[in-house]
Amino acid sequence: MHKDFWKEQASKWKLCFLAPMDWYWDSAYRQTMRRIAPHVFLVSEFYSSDWLVHSKFLADAVLPHEIIEDPLVIQIFGKAPEMFAKAAEIISKEKYNIAWIDVNMWCPAKKVVRSGHGSSLMINECTAFEIIKSLDEATHLPITVKTRLSFDGWQDLIKFWQWLQNAWARLLTIHWRTAKQAYTWVANHEPIYELQKNVEVPVIMNGDIMNFKMWMEKVKNLAGFMIGRWSFGNPWCFLSDMHNPNNIDNPEEREKYSHLNPNNFVDWIYYPTLKEMLDIMDFHAKALVDTKWEKKWSLEIRKHLVQYLKHFPWVKVYRKRLVTTESYENSKNIILEIRETFKDFLERRPGLWEITKEDLSIE
Ligand SMILES: Cc1cc2nc3c(=O)[nH]c(=O)nc-3n(C[C@H](O)[C@H](O)[C@H](O)COP(=O)(O)O)c2cc1C
Repeated sequence: MHKDFWKEQASKWKLCFLAPMDWYWDSAYRQTMRRIAPHVFLVSEFYSSDWLVHSKFLADAVLPHEIIEDPLVIQIFGKAPEMFAKAAEIISKEKYNIAWIDVNMWCPAKKVVRSGHGSSLMINECTAFEIIKSLDEATHLPITVKTRLSFDGWQDLIKFWQWLQNAWARLLTIHWRTAKQAYTWVANHEPIYELQKNVEVPVIMNGDIMNFKMWMEKVKNLAGFMIGRWSFGNPWCFLSDMHNPNNIDNPEEREKYSHLNPNNFVDWIYYPTLKEMLDIMDFHAKALVDTKWEKKWSLEIRKHLVQYLKHFPWVKVYRKRLVTTESYENSKNIILEIRETFKDFLERRPGLWEITKEDLSIE
């Protein structure tokens, strides 16, 4: 990907990103998101630049991926510019086909901040500058940064971001909370709109955005948005009326969204049917078993499957079984059982309460 890729993209349309999420985010999760929303850009969970350099196994374990995940970004963290540069050389190897590198200046965890990584770089501007500059020199890939509104509310943000832009950061994703606010506080997006007026690079907003519709109301002068937690069990959150096959003129583009049912778009939001939910659960479980070994798979799939059914009135009955599943066969059978038990309801949309407990004659 050439270095001005983001500027070019942002001049054509608004950009959608899946947020990096350690513990959730792996090849199977990414494939699932892309299968439903092919326009979503994927940012990986964070990896230590030091580990990438020192470990014999990490790069080969986390960088290879499926074609459907392209263009894929790898997020790295650390504090030493020279380690970032060495990690960038590894990530940029042709065999891994990584599209760009994102730097984590976001993480507020005490352990991370105390050791000078993550969001603490916001108060170590010179190191932040050196990191971006040495990355830009070490690789042909574009460098982007994920950061926060500020560390504790006192930094001169515009200066900081102009500083990163001068070091050749090509896109900035800003989470609207400060590092000190962790997951609390009331949203204030104004400083982010103000920032975009003062930098040339595209600015992406992150934090508590539930779906494309909500984001449309907030996008204003920004280049795009990034969704994290609301994508759990809901890859449909990235869709809007503009992805409705009936609204797409270009045949090639329309084909990419042919898996969607035009009738399921209601007031700009996509509400999948029970059948679509069960199909994507099957796909996600299979993708995970194909990319991980069975024991690891069974521990990881548990947290995902139950999320897809959160609006299904019978979820409680299946939750216990889904979160204790021990094998791929077992999960497949549970999904099959739901399919058969509720075969008369497969075309209904749980998110719109088209299936109620009364319908199903549940106590
Ligand atoms: C389980 C979990 C893991 C996360 N891991 C990362 C990470 O590795 N790198 C990062 O930059 N942000 C990480 N984040 C933060 C998210 O990318 C995102 O900024 C945050 O969840 C706020 O966005 P949201 O309100 O859309 O969820 C993580 C968040 C969660 C919930």
